[in-house]
Amino acid sequence: MSANDKTFTGSIPDIYDDHLVPLIFEVYADDLARRVMDGPADHVLETAAGSGVVTRALAPLLAENARYVVSDLNPPMLVRAQDRQPDNSRIHWQQADALALPFENDQFDVVACQFGAMFFPDKPKGYAEARRVMRPGGRFIFNVWDHIQSNEFADIVTRVACQLLPEDPPEFLARTPHGHYDTDQIRSDLSTAGFSNIDIETVTKTSTSPTASGPAVGYVQGTPLRNEIEKHGAEMLKAVTRAATDEIELLYGAGPVSAKIQGFVITAS
Ligand SMILES: C[S@@+](CC[C@H](N)C(=O)[O-])C[C@H]1O[C@@H](n2cnc3c(N)ncnc32)[C@H](O)[C@@H]1O
Repeated sequence: MSANDKTFTGSIPDIYDDHLVPLIFEVYADDLARRVMDGPADHVLETAAGSGVVTRALAPLLAENARYVVSDLNPPMLVRAQDRQPDNSRIHWQQADALALPFENDQFDVVACQFGAMFFPDKPKGYAEARRVMRPGGRFIFNVWDHIQSNEFADIVTRVACQLLPEDPPEFLARTPHGHYDTDQIRSDLSTAGFSNIDIETVTKTSTSPTASGPAVGYVQGTPLRNEIEKHGAEMLKAVTRAATDEIELLYGAGPVSAKIQGFVITAS
């Protein structure tokens, strides 16, 4: 992982939330919220909460007296989450690094993390932190994306971006969000962190956008891929967005466009 891969700042949070959240994250957020509610959930921690898509799905399902701590490394993502979240007295917002959680041991019934673990520079350490703050018998529920070839729009955007910048290929999407799909490694890292009951389920969904430009703008400008492209100039950001839009339009039509997305949902206790 390169240093900027975890930098969700500047204009990224708003574009991420406007374009990528409805495209690929909402459908998994509903799935994750349902799994959290399958067991005790009076004290819940969410890490790497981003712009709050899981928070919006889960908060209304929790019991009246539940406590829900919502955290992320990057404050601008949490600001966006707070701006969009209807008033809810159960929620406590807190900036936190998932690898150094500012909480006592044995606190939470559930630690939930949607598509954040791929950004942990040291996976066993991140998993061990989740385990440390969970009460005995608690659950760690998280998801990761499968290989980029199982996630069609991300794959197309990466291919187009690398064609335009062959000397310095911008491979953020393949390297980080879609680079941690080895389920044997995930099991092994969770075991190292002290988990024994580990369930991993493949979950396939469809991503849909009203226009071909939606996935192009979302992936190119609303993720840290932007940082890799923008260092070659603002015109290059526009050129990659345009070329990705054209390629999606060529393959899927002008819109609405739909494509496969696939990830793994992991429950560990
Ligand atoms: C792909 S986004 C997922 C956000 C959200 N869970 C969602 O489903 O939309 C990844 C998030 O991980 C956060 N992140 C990266 N490294 C982190 C770390 N070490 N601790 C906590 N959050 C981190 C980023 O700020 C970003 O919001």
